[in-house]
Amino acid sequence: MSTDQDRQFFDTFMLVLGILVAVAVAIYFLAQGMSARTQLAFIQEDPRVQARVDERIASMVRVAVAGEDNSHLPAPGPAPTAQAAAAAAPAAATADLTADQVYAAACAACHAAGVAGAPILGDQAAWSARIAQGMDTLATHAIDGYQGEAGYMPAKGGRSDLSDEQVRAAVQYMVEQAQ
Ligand code: HEC
Repeated sequence: MSTDQDRQFFDTFMLVLGILVAVAVAIYFLAQGMSARTQLAFIQEDPRVQARVDERIASMVRVAVAGEDNSHLPAPGPAPTAQAAAAAAPAAATADLTADQVYAAACAACHAAGVAGAPILGDQAAWSARIAQGMDTLATHAIDGYQGEAGYMPAKGGRSDLSDEQVRAAVQYMVEQAQ
């Protein structure tokens, strides 16, 4: 074998190798492109994936402003599952909500995280001075609304569909949690 033949063999060998690498890279990008248009699109359309996304981007609170209807705003927290939606009875059933359910439905939006200066449920320091005012004052403030130093507590938390007794029961529940 002469050096010439060696060189020729080497050149051909490198050419074939180069073509193989180019084909491999091309297949890789082709597969990427295809999966982006088929598999990825398919996954993103899956209702379970969409439900999880809704859950992640759901707003933490629904602000209730006295005199304004906030029912058009999305409900706070994760999107309700089919069962939860079925269990959460329509407006007619607000009459037989227990105190903690009233709290969860009407008060937690502000009082769970302390939105707008609301005293947080279970925060003894924030509640002790308020509890000292007596149950009647607390209930009146919750039922009729009240502007305090920390912020504005809307009448019945903006839920005029609740009865005075229900709001009073929710106040009782909140007071119990702070003791
Ligand atoms: C829009 C937010 C918001 C919602 C909803 C809300 N609260 Fe409040 N609440 C406040 C704020 C703010 C304060 C603090 C007012 C202050 O003392 O400055 C407060 C204070 C209170 C107090 C203490 C009053 C006092 O005299 O110290 C009670 C009791 C109370 N809320 C009960 C409730 C109940 C019961 C509900 C549900 C039916 C509710 N709140 C819903 C914002 C809210």
